[in-house]
Amino acid sequence: MFDIKLLSATHAAEISGVDLSQPIDDALAAAIRQAWLNNLVLLFRDQTLTDAQLVAVAKVFGEPAQSPPNASGSNWLGDFPELTCISNIKADGKPIGSLGNGEAIWHTDMSYIEEPPTASLLYALEVPPTGGGTHIMNMYTAYDTLPDTLKEQLEGKIALHDATYTSSGDVRKIYTEFDGNTDPEVAPGARHPLVVRHPETGRKALFLGRRSGASGILGEPDSRLYDALWAHCEQGGFSWRQEWRVGDLLIWDNRCCMHYRESFDDSARRLMHRAQIKGVRPVAA
Ligand code: SIN
Repeated sequence: MFDIKLLSATHAAEISGVDLSQPIDDALAAAIRQAWLNNLVLLFRDQTLTDAQLVAVAKVFGEPAQSPPNASGSNWLGDFPELTCISNIKADGKPIGSLGNGEAIWHTDMSYIEEPPTASLLYALEVPPTGGGTHIMNMYTAYDTLPDTLKEQLEGKIALHDATYTSSGDVRKIYTEFDGNTDPEVAPGARHPLVVRHPETGRKALFLGRRSGASGILGEPDSRLYDALWAHCEQGGFSWRQEWRVGDLLIWDNRCCMHYRESFDDSARRLMHRAQIKGVRPVAA
């Protein structure tokens, strides 16, 4: 049905032999979904997709979610409320998309809401000659490789996923600037278990979200445990880097992956269209 090539020892696979601009029948959709559950991240290269076709591909993974509105409260991509634009390009001095050209910190997409998206699909329309790569971390492996003493300390723990900041460090329009309150009990955002069970694979994953504002573990008097988890993840070894080409479509499982985007030269153009799939509330493992 298609060829599959593993891109790292732990996760990410390239699928070839599929033209996603064509209708996707049930058998192909089921095979793509299974490859995605097995590999966490799928890369399809050399695709030529309209926005409507990108939405059709998204439907293989579930019901597309409405994209978060831009600063003026409207959709980034007028006719397609299911899509968002991620770009540093400006038209008439105004950004045509979000995130700019700076580094976007490690995060799980929209973990600051009660039901974070199941999947994210990112399609490359323009890419800079260097930089702007996307790193994706396998959070099953991050959990599995924790020392037993740390695993024990995580049992029953809940973390606040502070909603104040975007992954590029901007304050979301609905919040005022972070006021220095570091108390995770009262800050805005969702509270999720630190160790979750993937609803389809049944595997345990570490669920960290993003480290900004008051994000932290509820009921912990200091940040030592939270620091240790981030240090474990950031020491490397669980992530794979996507080097973008125009026509790449990358699809990751947001329930067991974190990602970050490198910075790039702002004189270069980077243009991505993104779809996300509605999720459910994460469940403790
Ligand atoms: C994101 O952080 O959600 C976008 C990643 C990217 O632009 O590569």
